[in-house]
Amino acid sequence: MTNQEIQSKILQLREFLNSCNYKYYVLAQPDISDYEYDIKMAELQKLETDYPEFDDPNSPTKRVGDDTNIEFVQVQHKYPMLSLGNTYSEADLREFDARIRRLTDKPFTYDCELKFDGTSISLTYDHGQLIRAVTRGDGVHGDDVTANVRTIKSIPLTLNNTTQYPDFFEIRGEILMPHASLQRLNAEREEIGEPPLANCRNAAAGALKTQNSAAVAKRGLDCYLYYLMMDSQPTDSHFENMQLAKSWGFKTSEHVKKASDISQVLDYIAYWDRERENLPYDIDGIVIKIDSISLREQLGFTAKTPRWAIAYKFKAEEAASPLISIDYQVGRTGVITPVANLEPVHLAGTTVRRATLHNADIIKSLDLHYGDTVFIEKGGEVIPKITRVDISKRKPGALPVKYIENCPVCGAPLVRNEGEAGSYCPNYQHCPPQITGKIIHFVTRKAMDINCGEATIELLYKQGLIHSPADLYDLTAPQMARLERFAEKSAKNFVESVRNSVNVPFPRVLYALGIRHVGEQAAKNLAKHFHSIENLRNASIEQIAEVNDIGEIMAESVYQWFRNEENIEMLARLEKAGLQFHTDETEVSSAPTSEKLAGLNIIVTGSFATPQRRAELEQMVEQNGGKLQSGVNAKTNFVVAGDKPGASKIAKAEKLGTKIISETEFLAMIEPQA
Ligand code: IVH
Repeated sequence: MTNQEIQSKILQLREFLNSCNYKYYVLAQPDISDYEYDIKMAELQKLETDYPEFDDPNSPTKRVGDDTNIEFVQVQHKYPMLSLGNTYSEADLREFDARIRRLTDKPFTYDCELKFDGTSISLTYDHGQLIRAVTRGDGVHGDDVTANVRTIKSIPLTLNNTTQYPDFFEIRGEILMPHASLQRLNAEREEIGEPPLANCRNAAAGALKTQNSAAVAKRGLDCYLYYLMMDSQPTDSHFENMQLAKSWGFKTSEHVKKASDISQVLDYIAYWDRERENLPYDIDGIVIKIDSISLREQLGFTAKTPRWAIAYKFKAEEAASPLISIDYQVGRTGVITPVANLEPVHLAGTTVRRATLHNADIIKSLDLHYGDTVFIEKGGEVIPKITRVDISKRKPGALPVKYIENCPVCGAPLVRNEGEAGSYCPNYQHCPPQITGKIIHFVTRKAMDINCGEATIELLYKQGLIHSPADLYDLTAPQMARLERFAEKSAKNFVESVRNSVNVPFPRVLYALGIRHVGEQAAKNLAKHFHSIENLRNASIEQIAEVNDIGEIMAESVYQWFRNEENIEMLARLEKAGLQFHTDETEVSSAPTSEKLAGLNIIVTGSFATPQRRAELEQMVEQNGGKLQSGVNAKTNFVVAGDKPGASKIAKAEKLGTKIISETEFLAMIEPQA
């Protein structure tokens, strides 16, 4: 193929995949199978790797994000991002309507919209390309979160080129986390001993500020757009403009409704106050906007809010019920979760019998006493939470709830680390739910991918056949076939699946070990930095904490894990079984083609002319024999700093007297000598 043919093939694949994305994520009407999609995506990925000259930050392949540390840059909004006046009352809405009617005598209509409970975002498009995504911030300045936003599949990176979108415009909307994503995320967090996220709004806002776009890509975020910002709008109707925006490729709400007077607005509100429990995401109210853009301009703004729109907020649905008792559940990593048993009570369409209390701190801040009547609310979570206590119903002499001090299963004294809200059972080698929990985690698909369910692990444990993941590798087919649930064939399959797991790559092995706080992404970062179990085992807490996105608590947890006798013994057995304890160096960095930077440790920080430029500079370090670091330490020789470099990195470099150089100075170091 000629270069031109390759380029046109790449463009054609991108267009095809973009339209598949639109059909799947915006219209919810996919017309090809996942398999066909994956094949085309792989084809595009290969072409882009082979021909980097045709790279494009808006290519559909970029949806997966990357794991370089993003440092957010603050930018000024072209148009300030204002908020809306809020009300909880019908009287206020009638007054809002009356005020507008005093200001105009022309007829007008309202648009009623759902008020999404997420985090607001402003997207800028230039000739059909997403060029910038900025958070609300203080309304005047926000954070540039473009790299993270590119991973949200319902946000078009390139607009439908069959439509007449404006050359340059801004569009605003809400990034949210659907209930299903929060549930999945919390299940994963529980796996690694992290406390669950309390609600969808915080989870969405938190995800957007994650300094690692590959991690954001996995959060399952969604985005609805509801406001076009440009000096001259395509039509005078907001409703029609949003229909147009939908045709350009944006996800807009299907629940927007026109209302010709305030009584229709009130009907819409009443409808959604009942129906919102059936939505797959949270809304916290209804937004009422005047449809006509020219009337909006005529009405204008007060200092902080537009006169042409108002938000009606729902009162959170709550119910009150007496507390019967508290159960303390022991999770797979020993984390204790207190759960309240309540007198059954009706809330938002279901009967509630249990409510989560999260941890000891929450119980304390609620000032919960035995026998208290408590208020419960539903967020995105399946299990509701207790929001406050009805003190007026407290019985005289009631005692405050005393948090348990010993594990309810094995009796070991619980431990609570400074700075952590939760307590946990430290007896992870002998506490039964932790032993089986650890092995269950070890076999899961994302870890060693051994073909067996939780029930099998429980059975093997009960039969005394396994106490540690390492025991799995000693099981034989005849031994398994003797178990009641196994036939000869399934026993053979199981043993074979265990044997095949020795080929699982090192980052997943590291994740499978179930070190507290070490999730999939952290395991990848650690593997990339240290290359082998041996190096990681020998690293100090400080050295571990230098890795991307690894904090002090995680570093301490990893360090201590390698100092435990039983873990050391387990590792020795796993190594003997043939598990992958190191990465193939070539996987991590390409072989150097020059020695100009041999022996030098270098880090690249800040933003450069384009996002790819930073990746190119990093590649140059490795190609010239240098070692790329992710954090500054005593061994760092040079910090290559772009615009707005990481403040902590610069501070550390200055403290250590490490040389900080510019891109030009760096290029001079590797320039071919004349
Ligand atoms: S319109 C001038 N429409 O609610 C402000 N906002 O305080 C125009 N929100 O910051 C905003 N759903 O984050 C608008 N359908 C919707 C919305 C919506 C949620 C959020 C938005 C804004 C806040 C209002």
